[in-house]
Amino acid sequence: MELFYRVSFQEVVADALSLVEERELSSKHALERIFRRLEGADREKARGLAHAYVSEIEKWRAKIDFIINSVLKGSRVEDLDPYLANLLRIGTFDVHFRKVPPAVATDSVVRVVKERFDVSRAKFVNALMRSIEGFDVERALRALKERDRMEWLSIRFSHPRWYVEYAVKLLGYDEAVRLFLSNNKPQRYYVRANTLKTDVDSLRDYLEENGVRTAKTPVDDVLKVLEYKKPLTSLDWYGEGKFVIQDLASAYVAHVLDPEPGERILDLAAAPGSKTFHAAALMENRGEIVAVDYSYDRLMRMREKMKLLGVENVRLVHADGQSFRGRGKFDRIILDAPCSSSGTYRQFPEVKWRFDEAKIGRIIRVQRNMLLKAFRNLREGGEMTYSTCSIRIDEDEENVLFALEKTGLELVDHPFSWGGRGFLEIGDKVFRSWPHEHDCNGFFIAKMRKG
Ligand SMILES: C[S@@+](CC[C@H](N)C(=O)[O-])C[C@H]1O[C@@H](n2cnc3c(N)ncnc32)[C@H](O)[C@@H]1O
Repeated sequence: MELFYRVSFQEVVADALSLVEERELSSKHALERIFRRLEGADREKARGLAHAYVSEIEKWRAKIDFIINSVLKGSRVEDLDPYLANLLRIGTFDVHFRKVPPAVATDSVVRVVKERFDVSRAKFVNALMRSIEGFDVERALRALKERDRMEWLSIRFSHPRWYVEYAVKLLGYDEAVRLFLSNNKPQRYYVRANTLKTDVDSLRDYLEENGVRTAKTPVDDVLKVLEYKKPLTSLDWYGEGKFVIQDLASAYVAHVLDPEPGERILDLAAAPGSKTFHAAALMENRGEIVAVDYSYDRLMRMREKMKLLGVENVRLVHADGQSFRGRGKFDRIILDAPCSSSGTYRQFPEVKWRFDEAKIGRIIRVQRNMLLKAFRNLREGGEMTYSTCSIRIDEDEENVLFALEKTGLELVDHPFSWGGRGFLEIGDKVFRSWPHEHDCNGFFIAKMRKG
C-alpha cells in the first residue's frame, strides 16, 4: 500500500518495530514519532492500521519467529539485520495471520528490501518468503508439542518461555492456559472520571451520547467501555481532561491509599502520573503531592497532562527513588514500582520480549531499595501502598515480606472490595487482579503502615 510520498506502509511498520525494540518505546509512542514526519490524506486511518499491525506482530512475535526460524537454515532471525528481520516478520504476519495473498505479501516486502538494501538481499528474502508461504505451521506445532510441552505453550500462545513456566507453576496448567488466552485478547478499555472537572454519572451520560456504551465497575469513578464508534481519545471531553483512560486495577490504587485533602503525599515512581493525578483528584487539589521519577522525558509528559487535568497540588521531582529524601516526612506514600510489566501483556504486547531472569533480578533490587526508601520518608503512623503490574511473587508478596522484615512497616488488613487474594503467608491480606479473572491488567497491591 503506497500511503505516503515515497514511504510504503511496510516501511512505516518496520520503522516502528525497530523503534519499539531498540528504544524500548511503546507501539503508540513509536508511531507518534514516525507519523510526526509523515503527511498524507489518510494519515489518521493509516496510523490506526499501522498501530494494529505493530501490536499484533509484537503479540505474535514468538510464533512468527518460530515460522521464520524453521525455514532459515543454519541461522536464526535474531542473527539477521534487525530491519530485515522486521520486514520478514511483516511478510510472515501477512501470509500466516492476515491471509494476504502470498504473492502480494512477498512482493511488498521484497520491494522495500531492494530499495533499502540491495538486489542480493532482495533475492535472499524472496527465497525465504517462498519457503515461509509453504510452511505448515500446525504440523510443526504438533511435532513441537510432542517434543517439548513448555516450548509449545510458549510458541502457540506467543509468550516468553520464562513466563509460561512461571505461570504454569503458579496457577496450574489449565488456569495458566486461560491466562495466556486472555492475554491475547484485544485490550479492554476503562475510563476514569476526572472528578476535578466532572463526575462519573455525567461522564457516563456524555459517553452514551457519543456512541460509547459503558458499564459501572467496582471502582466508583471508573467505567468499563463495552462498545465505541470512534477512538475515545478523539472525544472533546478527553481533550478537555474530563476523563482519562486508565486500567481498572491501576485506578484502584489511589482508593486503597485513600489520601485526604490537605495531606502530604509522596509518589516515588510517579510518571506518567495516572496514580498521582488520581490522588490529586481525591484530595480535591488540596495538600501536596511530591511526584518523583527517574525519567525526565516521562516527567515532562506528566507536566503536560497535569495542566490538561487541572491538577494543581503536584510538585515534580527528577530523582532516583532509591535515594530520594524529602524535606520532612510524608503522611502517605504511593510506591508503584518499576517492574517486569508481566501483568500488562494484553495492553503492551511488546513488553513480553524485554525481560529475562537477569533483568528481573536487577529490577527486584531496585524495588527493594525503593521500599526501604519509602519507609524512611514515611511519618510514624503514616500509610503506603506498594503496587506492581507484575504477576510474579518475587516482585510482589516476597518484596512485601522483605519490607516487613527489614523495616517497622506492618501490613494493613485492608478490606479490598473486589479482586483476588495473593500468595504465601500474607496472601489473604493483599490484592491481586488477573486478565482472565477480572478483565483488566494483572496487578498487585499491598497497604502498609509505619509503627
Ligand atoms: C510502573 S511505572 C509508574 C507508573 C505511574 N505510577 C502511573 O501510575 O502512571 C514505574 C516508573 O518508575 C520509574 N523509575 C524506574 N526506576 C526508577 C528509580 N530508580 N527512581 C524513580 N523512578 C524510577 C520509571 O521511569 C517509570 O515511570
